[in-house]
Amino acid sequence: MPTVLVTGSNRGLGLEFARQYAADGWRVIACCRKPDGADDLKAVTGEVQIEAVELIDPASIRDLAERLKGETIDLLINNAGVLGPAQSFGDTDYSGFDTVMRSNVLGPMAMVEALLPNLEAGGIKTAVAISSGWGSIGTVGSGGRYLYGPSKAALNMVVKAQSLDLRDKGVAAVAISPGWVETDMGGEGADFTPEQSVGNMRALIAGLSLEDSGKFYSHKGHEIPW
Ligand SMILES: NC(=O)c1ccc[n+]([C@@H]2O[C@H](COP(=O)([O-])OP(=O)(O)OC[C@H]3O[C@@H](n4cnc5c(N)ncnc54)[C@H](OP(=O)(O)O)[C@@H]3O)[C@@H](O)[C@H]2O)c1
Repeated sequence: MPTVLVTGSNRGLGLEFARQYAADGWRVIACCRKPDGADDLKAVTGEVQIEAVELIDPASIRDLAERLKGETIDLLINNAGVLGPAQSFGDTDYSGFDTVMRSNVLGPMAMVEALLPNLEAGGIKTAVAISSGWGSIGTVGSGGRYLYGPSKAALNMVVKAQSLDLRDKGVAAVAISPGWVETDMGGEGADFTPEQSVGNMRALIAGLSLEDSGKFYSHKGHEIPW
């Protein structure tokens, strides 16, 4: 069965990705910051290998790549992300920008660079970035989110650039918005459960080809304007 690597797999959408892929018989490399405290992840049954990675620390990403050297990764899901501190108009904690950008943009970007040999060895050869509607300049309908929105727009640009750089290697890079989902980040009253959103994203991912590289999709499978 194929191997998927998921970041932020100790809770929320990442945990659900790990659960669903493991239940389908995939080998899951489940990354989180603190494996010791990842009790929900440890309870996932199937072939799950838990690995530590802190996305704001380039050395942590390099260490992960070193540990995984020679292993095939068919599908990389850059799921981990943060909302950040206060960020409404006139009330933005500017000091949070660095952490938000390093977590949501530079970390996922470095993961693809570090794990490219693993992806090239795989059969699916796809890197998925979990983005957000807040990163779509073309469709965003309300203000605010002055740290998170720009970080997801920047992540989208990274995905587009990677799709162009990696096309010759046969590796696809795609951004997906998961919808508004009931997680710690999404809160209560969201439109979708993690089961629904991840189920939709898995169906979308299963149908992707190199032709779809460089696109930004909703979890329901339609393209979203950048
Ligand atoms: N939920 C929504 O409605 C929604 C909507 C649009 C987009 N998204 C996106 O979907 C993805 C998953 O969100 P979620 O709702 O599952 O969020 P969540 O419940 O808050 O979980 C976030 C995950 O990311 C991990 N993480 C954060 N910063 C990290 C870092 N620097 N290094 C490594 N791991 C880090 C967290 O680890 P710790 O437990 O160690 O903090 C946690 O596992 C995110 O990229 C988010 O922006 C979510």
